[in-house]
Amino acid sequence: MNGTELVTGIGELTTQDESSERLHDAALVIGEGRILWIGPAAQAPAADRRTDVDGRAVLPGWVDTHTHLVFGGDRSAEFEARMAGRAYAAGGINTTVAATRAAPEEQLVATARNLRHEAETQGTTFLETKTGYGLDVASEERSARAAANVADVVTFLGAHIVPAGMDRRAYIDLVTGPMLTAALPYVQFIDAFCETGAFDVEEAREVLLAGRAAGLGLRVHGNQLGFSGGVRLAVELGAASVDHCNYLEPVDIDALAAGTTVATLLPACDLSTRQPFPPARQLLDAGVVIALATNCNPGTSYTTSMPLCVATAVLQMGLSVGEAVWAATRGAARSLGRDRGADAVGSLFVGGRADLQVLNAPSISHLAYRVGVPLTAAVWRTGVRVD
Ligand code: NIG
Repeated sequence: MNGTELVTGIGELTTQDESSERLHDAALVIGEGRILWIGPAAQAPAADRRTDVDGRAVLPGWVDTHTHLVFGGDRSAEFEARMAGRAYAAGGINTTVAATRAAPEEQLVATARNLRHEAETQGTTFLETKTGYGLDVASEERSARAAANVADVVTFLGAHIVPAGMDRRAYIDLVTGPMLTAALPYVQFIDAFCETGAFDVEEAREVLLAGRAAGLGLRVHGNQLGFSGGVRLAVELGAASVDHCNYLEPVDIDALAAGTTVATLLPACDLSTRQPFPPARQLLDAGVVIALATNCNPGTSYTTSMPLCVATAVLQMGLSVGEAVWAATRGAARSLGRDRGADAVGSLFVGGRADLQVLNAPSISHLAYRVGVPLTAAVWRTGVRVD
C-alpha cells in the first residue's frame, strides 16, 4: 500500500517533535494480519496485491477505550431537556437500567454490534466496552457476556450507581461479591463511577480493590461532574486509566504527572452534557499521558465518532493535530496496557497488527481542518478490509 503521509504513532508524546512519526511518500506491506514492512514507497518490496492510496494519509485505526454499548432504550427526551437547560445528573442511568433489564440478550448484542460497526466505518479498529446498565447479578452477567461478544476488551461497571430501591451497603456487597464473580469470566477490567450521586472515594476504593484481588485491571470514572477525588484515587491505586477529568485541581494534575495512570478525555460527552472541557493542554504540558475516547452511551454521549473527538480536542481543547491523533491511538492503547509488544494496537510497526485507516485527505490535519466532514476512506482490521 502506498500513501503520501503515513503516521505510524511510534515515538512518545508528540509535543516536541511531531515530524518524527510522520513519514512522507511512504508505503507499507501487510500479510496475515500483520505489518511486514514500512518504508519509502520507492523501496517497497513486491507484494501480491497493491493498493495505491493516491496521496491520501494513512494512520493507525482509532482505539476507543471508553464505551457503554450494552444497553436498551433511548434517552433522547433527556438529551432534549438537557439542551433546553436541565443539568445532567447520574440518576438518568436508572432509565437505561430499566430498559436494559427488559431487553432480550440478542437485542443487546445486536445494538452493540451495530454501534461497533458504525465505529469501524469511522476508523475504529479496537474497542473497549463496559457493563453497568444491568446492576443486578443476572443482568450484569448477561451484559458482560454480550459485551464480550462484541468488544475487544470488557470492563465490569457494576459500580455505576446504586440502582433505585437498593440499600447502598447491600449493593456494594453484591458488586464486590456475587456480581463480580458472575461477570469475571468475560471481563479484563473493573471500573467505578466515583462521583456525587454515584460512589464516594471509599466506596469506589472497596470496589476497585475487590476487582484487583480477582485479577482485574482498574479504570475509574473520575472528576466528571465535580472534584470527586476519583482522579487521586485512580493514581493512588495505579489504575490503568481515569476517565472524564473535567474538574482538576493542580494537585490532581501533579498526581497524574507523578503516576502511571492515563487521563482519558471524552470530548463528545463534554459537548453533549455541556460540561467544561478538561484542561488537556495543562495535562500534556505537565507530562501526563492522555487518551481520547467517545464514551458512546445513550445518556451522555450517543456517538461512535472518534474523528469528532479528535477534531474537538484540537479545536476546543488546545491539542495539536499530532497530539490528538496520538491520544486517540497510542495513548489510548497505553490505557489498556496494549501499547507495546506483539499484541500492541494503536501504532503501525513491523510485526504489529495491521489495524489502519486511510483518510480521504492528504494529511491528518484535515481531521480538524475539515471538521464535520466524513473523511474515512478505508479501514483494515487485522489486515481485513472493513466494509
Ligand atoms: O461515562 N458517568 C457515568 N457513566 C456514563 C453515563 C451514563 C449515563 O448517563 O447513562 C458516562 O458519562
